[in-house]
Amino acid sequence: VWKQENAEVLEVKRLLDDVFWIKFKAARIAQDAAPGQFVHVLCSDHYSPFLRRPFSINRLDKDELSVLFKVVGEGTRLLSRITPGQTLNLLGPAGRGFPVNVSGAHVLLVAGGMGVAPMPALAHRLLAQGNRVTAIIGARNARYVFEAEYMAQCGAEVLVCTDDGSAGPRLTATSMYRELRDKGDVAYACGPLAMLQEMKQCAATPLWISLETRIGCGTGLCLGCAQPSGYTEDGQVVYRKVCIDGPVFHASEVVLLED
Ligand SMILES: Cc1cc2nc3c(=O)[nH]c(=O)nc-3n(C[C@H](O)[C@H](O)[C@H](O)COP(=O)(O)OP(=O)(O)OC[C@H]3O[C@@H](n4cnc5c(N)ncnc54)[C@H](O)[C@@H]3O)c2cc1C
Ligand code: FES
Repeated sequence: VWKQENAEVLEVKRLLDDVFWIKFKAARIAQDAAPGQFVHVLCSDHYSPFLRRPFSINRLDKDELSVLFKVVGEGTRLLSRITPGQTLNLLGPAGRGFPVNVSGAHVLLVAGGMGVAPMPALAHRLLAQGNRVTAIIGARNARYVFEAEYMAQCGAEVLVCTDDGSAGPRLTATSMYRELRDKGDVAYACGPLAMLQEMKQCAATPLWISLETRIGCGTGLCLGCAQPSGYTEDGQVVYRKVCIDGPVFHASEVVLLED
């Protein structure tokens, strides 16, 4: 059950020109939240942008939660200008997160680009439950590698790779996953659609993926987030709603680019 909360901004970090990290005090949402769920953020007091914007819950600590985001348009630009002490209206915890009822397993986390956003809270929870966690972080270059230190501090084994070889080997997150896939019991991934598609094709264990499809209402009412999930016997497409059935799905539950 999601709640609406006026959350106080506790800390803002500008990690790069276009990448920001914001920590909120949001006791009601944080206490019920699970890794992989998101908060639906009202970015403006005015009518533009009218719709809330969804962001994965990045870190979770008692009554605090954070988001990590890249500025791509009006909503994220407004969000990047927020300062500590201000409040933002959040709706959450929204959606279905990653399954965390595992223990004693070796879990592979695979993140591409800003897909690293939900991984810290997930790594923290899985480690607390006695799992071994290996996190693969793929980024375009060393500057765009986020959360590696935090996850290592939590106790995860962190492997970084970049497109240009400026941090770790010159590999994509998926190619690094291919090398390790047999060693894990289950894999959780978040990143661009093409990456998730490739992960799905080469997965060696159960694979759960978090989709960042565009979302409208965020509460299951507008159908703006419909995601093909399969076909009926007579060939009709069956849809799932990313905002309430996801954003995390078992890879077999969704039809990606070229399935
Ligand atoms: C469940 C969920 C979790 C998310 N978590 C994060 C996160 O943790 N960090 C983060 O940086 N982003 C995340 N996103 C994406 C984020 O919500 C969008 O970047 C944001 O809504 C853009 O708002 P805007 O007003 O700045 O840009 P807009 O003006 O709405 O759009 C600017 C440009 O970005 C494109 N765009 C907007 N949203 C998306 C999208 N979802 N997928 C692909 N292209 C898009 C538009 O087509 C347009 O070209 C998440 C999305 C979902 C659905
Ligand atoms: S965003 Fe409206 S139904 Fe999912």
